[in-house]
Amino acid sequence: VSLKPFNTFGVDAKANQFIKVEDENILKELHSAGLFERQFFVLGGGSNVLFTRDYEGLILQIATKGITHFIEGNYIYVTAKGGEVWNEFVWHCVERGFAGVENMALIPGTVGASPVQNIGAYGTELMDIFYSCQAFDTLTGEFTTFQNADCQFTYRDSIFKSQYKGQYIITSVTYKLAVNHRINTSYGAIESELKQRHINTPTIKDIAEVVSHIRVEKLPDPSTIGNAGSFFKNPIISEGQFQQLQQAFPDIVFYPMADQRVKLAAGWLIEQCGWKGKVDGNVAVWKNQALVLTNPGQANGSEIYSTSSKIVNDIQQKFGIELEREVNIL
Ligand code: EPU
Repeated sequence: VSLKPFNTFGVDAKANQFIKVEDENILKELHSAGLFERQFFVLGGGSNVLFTRDYEGLILQIATKGITHFIEGNYIYVTAKGGEVWNEFVWHCVERGFAGVENMALIPGTVGASPVQNIGAYGTELMDIFYSCQAFDTLTGEFTTFQNADCQFTYRDSIFKSQYKGQYIITSVTYKLAVNHRINTSYGAIESELKQRHINTPTIKDIAEVVSHIRVEKLPDPSTIGNAGSFFKNPIISEGQFQQLQQAFPDIVFYPMADQRVKLAAGWLIEQCGWKGKVDGNVAVWKNQALVLTNPGQANGSEIYSTSSKIVNDIQQKFGIELEREVNIL
């Protein structure tokens, strides 16, 4: 099976076996049949993965659908199946006035993938609205529930990416959204776009529209130019290391964190090394956002990986910082 339609990088890798899961109960049967004892990988929207070679194993695509909700006091608990497209879920909520997801409009991928790396954008992170999820344990063949605190969410990370990497398949997620909600316009780009549109008291729909607009301007559309969003994480460093760097590079873009550490804009670091918009063989660094690697057409996964390694080296050389890849490398 060619995986080209199933990864947003548009890389033409192959898998030995491919199963589309439209009913989560099938997972029990796959477990009984011993399929999880061999190599497997779970794909949602394929928007955060780079296949650097053919995949010698089973690819499971989670394609379960359905969204339900119930209201309790000021809160709305919305449960969506793992295969729901994230952005469609966002608009499902926005149109009903369920608030809390609007800043994360247009993030690629699926509901089931959303907790894995604690997706986030424009001032909101998944952990802010995540209530619980149901997950299938591929070791035991049983379903379990994880509450927010069980997931150990941090910046672009959770227990599903660390300790339990590859063990659980998230089959549905329950989000805790609000009726009376404070709109979050803290992100500079949102504020200035609202101003331009002369919107003084934005609704959640305004926010979702503005965020979508900003993303379209800044990020390449994966349906026309292969990419997986930010290829690297924004590095987090100690205050001491930051002060030294800031002396050498007074313009460095940074965000202070609650724990005294400092998060740097990887896009800025990459741009400073001359990579923004640069073409490296079949791979190109996005012209409007240096954190995004693209496949304009012919690149294979190992070429994309090798460009990313050159970037990692340059950042190490210039800033003494080790960039970490955000995308799953297979
Ligand atoms: N910057 C540059 N040059 C660049 C890119 C960025 O100088 O080429 C500097 C600018 O100063 C800019 C700042 O970096 O203001 C921040 O850039 P941006 O607002 O685009 O955000 P980011 O930190 O690069 C993160 C997420 C994005 C998310 C945005 C908005 C990560 C790894 N990425 O990017 O998430 O959309 O914030 O909240 O945390 C993704 O994970 O795939 C993703 C796109």
